[in-house]
Amino acid sequence: MANAKNLLVLPGDGIGPEIIAQVLRVIDWMDRRRSVSFNITEALIGGAAIDKTGVPLPEETLEAALKSDAVLMGAVGGPKWEVLPFDVQPERGLLGIRKGLGLFANLRPAIVFDALADASSLKLDIVKGLDIMIIRELTGGIYFGEPRGIEELENGIRKGFNTLTYTTPEIHRIGKVAMDLAGKRDKRVCSIDKANVLETTVMWREEMTKIGASYPDIELSHMYVDNAAMQLVRNPKQFDVVVTTNMFGDILSDCAAMLTGSLGMLPSASLGAPDSDGKQAALYEPVHGTAPDISGKGIANPLAQILSFSMLLRYSFDLFDDAELIEKAVQNALDKGFRTADITGDGKTLVSTSGMGDAVINELDMLAA
Ligand code: IPM
Ligand code: MG
Repeated sequence: MANAKNLLVLPGDGIGPEIIAQVLRVIDWMDRRRSVSFNITEALIGGAAIDKTGVPLPEETLEAALKSDAVLMGAVGGPKWEVLPFDVQPERGLLGIRKGLGLFANLRPAIVFDALADASSLKLDIVKGLDIMIIRELTGGIYFGEPRGIEELENGIRKGFNTLTYTTPEIHRIGKVAMDLAGKRDKRVCSIDKANVLETTVMWREEMTKIGASYPDIELSHMYVDNAAMQLVRNPKQFDVVVTTNMFGDILSDCAAMLTGSLGMLPSASLGAPDSDGKQAALYEPVHGTAPDISGKGIANPLAQILSFSMLLRYSFDLFDDAELIEKAVQNALDKGFRTADITGDGKTLVSTSGMGDAVINELDMLAA
């Protein structure tokens, strides 16, 4: 079809293919029922790629990703590949595609659906209505800093080392993403660092303050990461946009995910810088991993994957109505009591992965009727 969007789909490992199967049904629904249309290509990443090609990120996959309009990924990793040398483990594939596409801005919204407020391990009034956006720097920091490695010293002693580096442009570009997004929300940014210990984050705080100065209508605050972890479970609603380094963002976003009831609910968008034609590399994936303990059982929650697709519509194609339609369908399915095992409770209707897919498609049908 003319004007179709080119989507690269990377199912990956564990529950990845199972939840991708459900989002493909939603994409197919969009194709049939809305004005938007997609050309879908699938490629290998992670353990699935290792099994077929010997490497976690085959050249063809990166090339296909660079050519696509957006990438939709499941998850990578699993015990089967943990015995492999570090350099060829599935996670290298994920980090490789993030770096290869220049996806420096990782958006992880933690939104509590009313129907799930009681599924959170925190008290209802602490999480009800929660809507925060964690912005994690994704292509720098200790994840990529050099030097890194494990060295043999004398007498059988070994030394492991990684390096936390940021340059000012890396801080500025992620800071701007945070400020711009806050401008469309509650106009508050909290930058998280460890400026009482780490020089790199002393500079992070100084540079964030400079960025903040050119956004006078945004209220910028700073917090140490240990305090932030505590505040996230004490009073998460104090936050609007949170911006932080790669590793702090990794940790804090898992914590924020649990506020929403389940790690199975959190989508994410990873965005690059727009080029001169306005084309912006983007990859969308659930925050949760491959959940090896439940993979193959058909019980995984596909909602984070489906919500990742709604983020794709919103951030890559400005298709706000279509994105909202999906979010509304998810909300309605939850309101009617449909629950996968990770979020179920008394009086709820326990459904399988495809059962939740059915529920969302049903709601889409009703919304579009
Ligand atoms: C995430 C994951 C990844 C990360 C792993 C799988 C490499 O935990 O996306 O949060 O640490 O970035
Ligand atoms: Mg993580």
